[in-house]
Amino acid sequence: MSKLFIAGEVFHGAGSLEELKNIKGKKAVLVTGGSSMKKSGTLDKAVAYLNAAGIETKIYEGVEEDPSSETCFKGAEMMKEFQPDWIVGIGGCSAIDAAKMMWVFYEYPDADFEAMIKPFSVPTLRQKAKFIAIPSTSGTGTETTGLAVITDREKGVKYPIVSYELTPDVAIIDGEICASMPAHVTSNTGLDALTHCVEAYVSNIDNNFADALSKGGLKIVFDNLKEAVQNPTNIAARQNMHDASFMGGLAFNNAWLGIVHSLSHQVGALFGVPHGACNAIFLPNVIRFNSKESSRFPDLAKVIGKETTEELAQAIETLRSEVNNQSAIKEFGISREDWDKNLDFMANNALLDPCTGFNPRKPSVEELKDIYNACYEGLVYSEEKVLNAAL
Ligand SMILES: [Fe+2]
Repeated sequence: MSKLFIAGEVFHGAGSLEELKNIKGKKAVLVTGGSSMKKSGTLDKAVAYLNAAGIETKIYEGVEEDPSSETCFKGAEMMKEFQPDWIVGIGGCSAIDAAKMMWVFYEYPDADFEAMIKPFSVPTLRQKAKFIAIPSTSGTGTETTGLAVITDREKGVKYPIVSYELTPDVAIIDGEICASMPAHVTSNTGLDALTHCVEAYVSNIDNNFADALSKGGLKIVFDNLKEAVQNPTNIAARQNMHDASFMGGLAFNNAWLGIVHSLSHQVGALFGVPHGACNAIFLPNVIRFNSKESSRFPDLAKVIGKETTEELAQAIETLRSEVNNQSAIKEFGISREDWDKNLDFMANNALLDPCTGFNPRKPSVEELKDIYNACYEGLVYSEEKVLNAAL
């Protein structure tokens, strides 16, 4: 017997933000990032809808990219004073993930962050508040996942905090909110959604539900990402990408991810490379690496009109360049010296990352280093090390 984990209530479609008018409660803290939600008017709209529902609001703004545990403690302090019965994460994934951890520390002020790094260690939530997620980017699917990625800057490590307790009670998937998303964010978050679909499909705990969501999400990304990047005000393409992001999130909440994410978490934490951009570089080579143990890639290739595993990997490389994403880690200005200095550290941490346990092929540290090195240079990975230049 298995349980399907999904956000409690899901509202989707352009304009669905208005559902906030129907929320029942007394006080809400809205947690957001820089200024994009304010500038686009989305934050004001959300506040107005909550006020119309008779809910008093307070805003925590300024969550940084790749939020730290310190930010989460700070937000929890504000919540302890205000005592909300709803926490609303609104904005990019960083804002929503930070809001999830603020929620934990609000409910459990003495909770130990280090102890929660162990998967499924978050204590029972909803003693004080419930959680609404309103994403403004179409990639992580955090609005339906039991995952929050928090960065320890001192150690240079990104920790995926994994617990179904963190799965939101309400998710609002409103493509209109994404219209102001810059092209490069649309592009790399969309490739993150694509990665979720691929990794969930070949996970070693794959299941029928995740399979259908992964295939559906993958097709939507291939059909809509270019259009969303090139014509940002095309709300239909925006909504499609937002739906695909949710589908990828729902797929991986129930099948989990693989070593693309394990590798990316390290490069993101140490060098600040955007998560989706990292994934898009690692994914084709990880597909090649995993193909030795998983026979499922040709099924995915068929979804996009291709036949073989290699054609799938190459189609991803083509899409990646069509939406102007980098094809090598070195393009982010990381010197070979810095890379080599950190390679052992990254590969060892990647092996310990919770996502590695769900990868269809069990990697060694040496193999992870080989994939890292091929992707640093933008080369095609093969069992005989690195052969050809990638697209
Ligand atoms: Fe991701």
